[in-house]
Amino acid sequence: MKLPHIPAKEEGPVRVLMVCLGNICRSPAAEGILRSIVSSHNADNDWVIDSAGTYGGHSGDLPDRRMRVHATRRGYDLTHRARRFTPSDFSDFDLIIPMDSANERNLRSMAPTLDDEAKIVPMMKFVRMATRYDHVPDPYYEGAEGFELVLDLLEDGCRNLYDDITAMRNDTSR
Ligand code: 4NP
Repeated sequence: MKLPHIPAKEEGPVRVLMVCLGNICRSPAAEGILRSIVSSHNADNDWVIDSAGTYGGHSGDLPDRRMRVHATRRGYDLTHRARRFTPSDFSDFDLIIPMDSANERNLRSMAPTLDDEAKIVPMMKFVRMATRYDHVPDPYYEGAEGFELVLDLLEDGCRNLYDDITAMRNDTSR
């Protein structure tokens, strides 16, 4: 997989921004899951993790109650407050991870430079479990299975993202 420039471990933390539409279901869940993986490796100081939405209508809200219920059952406490993605996020993050192709298109249209656009890597590029989905589907109008599916995809994707990025950052020969 082609990844953008990622700072080496000694250069400082790697900064990852998860992005969906409303920033109340998928991206705050992705943020919470990656945060938990990072913590379990005692690597909190090596990562900056945040999330945002391309739509600002839920700004200031906690994640959707249904997502919080399903995430809590798996041990994730989601306390992020929704915010809208801003073009300045391109300078504040190394990796910008859209959940679906509409989010990806939106982000691409806002990228100030080609180097910034290269920071956009869809979550599904990290998902290796068997699935018929090529995107993290919006659970907002779905039932419980929709939320469980999102968490399954995100747990798989975030584990691989953590492993891939950690291996890159520790590779002193690159
Ligand atoms: P999310 O889900 O993008 O995963 O946070 C949605 C939440 C709210 C809306 C759409 C999707 N909405 O249109 O309000």
